[in-house]
Amino acid sequence: MQAGVAAHHSSSLGEKDNWALASIFAAYTISATLWLLFATAVGVLLAYKFGAPDFGAGAWLTFGRLRPIHTNATFYGWASVALVGLAYYVAARSSRISLYSVKLAWIGLVLFNVAAAAGTVALDLGYNDGNLEYREWPWPIRLIFLAALVVTAWNLIGTVARRSTDDIYLSNWYTIGGVLWTCIIALVAILPWYQHGLGQVSVSGYYMHNAVGMWFTPLALGIFYYALPRLLSRPIYSYALGVFAFWTNLVFYPIIGAHHFLFSPLPWWLQTTAIVFSVAMLVPVWGGSANFLLTMRGRVRDLAHSYPLMFILVGVIGYLVGSTQGAVEAFRSLQEVWHLTNFTVGHSHLTMYGFVTFAIWGGVYALLPFATGKEPGQLGLMLHFWMAVVGSFIYVISLSIGGTIQGLNWKNGVPFIQSVVDMQAYHVWRGVGGSLMFLSHVVFAWNVWRMTHGRTAKAAPPVALPPGEPVT
Ligand code: HEM
Ligand code: HEM
Repeated sequence: MQAGVAAHHSSSLGEKDNWALASIFAAYTISATLWLLFATAVGVLLAYKFGAPDFGAGAWLTFGRLRPIHTNATFYGWASVALVGLAYYVAARSSRISLYSVKLAWIGLVLFNVAAAAGTVALDLGYNDGNLEYREWPWPIRLIFLAALVVTAWNLIGTVARRSTDDIYLSNWYTIGGVLWTCIIALVAILPWYQHGLGQVSVSGYYMHNAVGMWFTPLALGIFYYALPRLLSRPIYSYALGVFAFWTNLVFYPIIGAHHFLFSPLPWWLQTTAIVFSVAMLVPVWGGSANFLLTMRGRVRDLAHSYPLMFILVGVIGYLVGSTQGAVEAFRSLQEVWHLTNFTVGHSHLTMYGFVTFAIWGGVYALLPFATGKEPGQLGLMLHFWMAVVGSFIYVISLSIGGTIQGLNWKNGVPFIQSVVDMQAYHVWRGVGGSLMFLSHVVFAWNVWRMTHGRTAKAAPPVALPPGEPVT
């Protein structure tokens, strides 16, 4: 990337700082995009294996090895790396200061990639901590990931601590909070003391749900809080509501992990507590979503003309609908039907894809052109958006219907094979939706290339500064 194009909009940072920040943001985005392509190519293969289990025979391509490769690569290679790149950009811009350490940001990127690459190879060779969901990488590799988190936390805090603004902008509360909590969560997941028996079940629930709720969720919300005011040139609807949602998220989320293990030998009171707090999660979820939607109120025309805004709108809806679905799913009466079925896989993708992944895309399309001065084309944006929306819609709807039929079959004591037969059509539809989603990722990769290595845009996108907002 050329130095001259990095800072083409007004800013209090010097040319060199702008260039360094743009390079970091671009490098994290490119690296994450490569992981997205790899992980979701594996996802498509997995999807087709439901219809043709013998396709891709051999130990290296078995479902049991490829599934955790898909989940860990989407979590830690794609979403984590992309969100950290965005968090750095938001921290520096909203604090009107250069990054605390460019070197640490590069070191973090290398550590994230070493962990993801080593984890993928280990899983494919059959080395894994198999019964620990989303932490199947052997623990020394998870230590490398933890080191990357610590480096990131240090660098983000260092940046915001040196800010030239009076307040810490809301986005940074979410992103720094998320990284700090995840350092704790990742550490708890490695400590040997509770990795046996019921303690392990408890820690698994804690880790699984906090990975999504205290890592991806706050980082994605932090991006919304910065990108939305910036794109709409108006302040966020309510700063106070944003702070309220932050603290209620922190109070309710950490104790809901046991809802993954209802009807297990975990204490009944712990399961009930998890259900109660799952419902309480509606407070920050509805509060946060209302805040975003009210920020967009009356701006339908802008939405219709801006793909970055449309990506963010889908992300907000994914957050609202997916989390509300989760609260309903946590009731014992519905777990009886949906637990262990494909309905949960639908929920996972509605949230991790419909919310987190769309939030990342919205953030990247909203902010990367400002950093590099290069824009993607309208055709690329359109193809990416519609293929991803239609593909994920087919994916989630087919698994939600199929998963419900599957669960009712099991509940009614129908022979197991009948539930497999009944799922066939829905698995095919999931494959169709998944293929569309994967194609959209190829287009995204092309768009990222244009935003980092393409031609410089003729004019910077017009941005008016909303009063009181730190949108430098
Ligand atoms: C905030 C409200 C939410 C509640 C109450 C909730 C509830 C639940 C419940 C009850 C399950 C377990 C389903 C089962 O095992 O049968 C589940 C699974 C899952 N949820 Fe959520 N959810 C919420 C939000 C989210 C969000 C925002 C994300 C992603 C960012 C997410 C990602 C997941 C994933 C990946 C699983 C699958 C875990 C597994 O492999 O078993 N959820 N959720
Ligand atoms: C082309 C897009 C994708 C396809 C075709 C795909 C496909 C799949 C398949 C076939 C499974 C295994 C389901 C099972 O065991 O029954 C799976 C699981 C999973 N995938 Fe994806 N996936 C895609 C994108 C993503 C992305 C981008 C993310 C996260 C950012 C993600 C997160 C997950 C999670 C968390 C699970 C575990 C679900 C659970 O246990 O409930 N996937 N995916």
